Amino acid sequence: MPGVNILLIVGGGIAAYKACELVRLMRRDGAGVTCVLTDGGAQFVTAMSLAALSGNRVHTSLWDAGAEAEIGHIQLSRAADLVIVCPATADLLAKMAAGLADDLATTLLLATDTPVLAVPAMNVRMWNHAATRRNIGWLREAGVAIMEPDEGPMACGEFGPGRLPEPPAIWASAQAMLGGSHPLANTKPGPLAHSLSGRHVLVTAGPTHEAIDPVRYLANRSSGKQGFAIAEAAAKAGARVTLVAGPVALATPPGCERVDVESAAEMAAAVHAALQADVAVMVAAVADWRPANAADRKLKKGTTAPQLELVENPDILAQLARDPRRPALLIGFAAETHDVVAHAQAKLASKGADWIVANDVSGPPGTSAMGGDANAVQLVRAEGVEAWERVSKHEIARRLVARIAEALAASAQQQPEALDASAQQEPEALDASAQQEPPEALAASAQQQPEALASAPEPRDG
Ligand code: CTP
Repeated sequence: MPGVNILLIVGGGIAAYKACELVRLMRRDGAGVTCVLTDGGAQFVTAMSLAALSGNRVHTSLWDAGAEAEIGHIQLSRAADLVIVCPATADLLAKMAAGLADDLATTLLLATDTPVLAVPAMNVRMWNHAATRRNIGWLREAGVAIMEPDEGPMACGEFGPGRLPEPPAIWASAQAMLGGSHPLANTKPGPLAHSLSGRHVLVTAGPTHEAIDPVRYLANRSSGKQGFAIAEAAAKAGARVTLVAGPVALATPPGCERVDVESAAEMAAAVHAALQADVAVMVAAVADWRPANAADRKLKKGTTAPQLELVENPDILAQLARDPRRPALLIGFAAETHDVVAHAQAKLASKGADWIVANDVSGPPGTSAMGGDANAVQLVRAEGVEAWERVSKHEIARRLVARIAEALAASAQQQPEALDASAQQEPEALDASAQQEPPEALAASAQQQPEALASAPEPRDG
């Protein structure tokens, strides 16, 4: 990636040695690399190694008059196209989340307006600790891209998530953030680059789990792959992406802010909290029903099988269509096993969506659109139906994002302000709409989980 400048902050963990390999890969592909070594990082790798590999001076201290005269520390972070924090230790993540600036690395991170990719590595218990989970959530909310650590045996002898991902995977994520359409050796910005800059895209993905009792739930076979691919493609196109994910085993795509939920009620609350958005792509296979009364203790086997009484879940897409803060472009998916187009057209009308992407989900589990890696869809709009041949879910995501960007650009030309979610309402109006009663079902779910709405970020204006 000639012409690209990376600022690499090396934190103090045993995985710091992999930062050397990362520098080598980035240089091999033509990127310029400048390293900042924390005091902790210097316990594991030397400034000399990083300088030799990067071909650049390594910065270590906030109080280096020579370095400050040469290039101010604020300038150092702003001159980069991407800041990578690798390894991002629990301590460094906590400082970033709290906005501390007590050394060169944290000061740069607080001062930068350059995208940041943090690559955590730590002991599994530290990774799972509530404080780290909270810090990760805060950082994602602030727009920091955070890679999921790998799972496996760790230097400390324990096993689980917390290992630093391998350097090629880190460099691939960095390249994706820089706008390339494919990891490694891609020297041109991807075709989608910047096409959604300044837009907020909300994506729902995966199944929902509806509790029967503390150990059992109702679910469906959705893998979340299509929704995650769309979130990834939207982030590559420069959008701010909120990915509301049901329970799936997928890594967060780089650059996306992920909100994990379990049930349809939680998903509805998370969607509502993420507004305002320019576009919503509702890919989740939301469970239509939930048990009327989830037991709070495990149901025990008896002489007769229990009867489950089901009640209908809120239709999140239909609610969003009626919401005063409805995204300008609202896209639903339709999972059908028969009469695909007719059902999708009926959903377009009944749910108030602008487009429906219809999939045929018939076929054996894992190979059909539900769970498989490829999909053949029909894009159903008021203007007509377009059939897309069977391609990978990533390719469908790229095509859909390209269509979204075209539609937003065309509407913006017609009505310069109509499609700009942030321009739609003055700050006071946002406050007012935040105070409005949410639709009934959302209000009900908010009552069930007051924290979910209480922790909703303030409406943003940009
Ligand atoms: N959807 C939703 N909330 C629900 C059910 C569905 O937001 N409670 C959204 C899905 O995310 C998708 C669209 O509605 O974008 C269609 O979902 P689908 O499961 O195909 O349709 P249903 O409305 O559930 O109808 P049916 O199961 O009868 O086909």
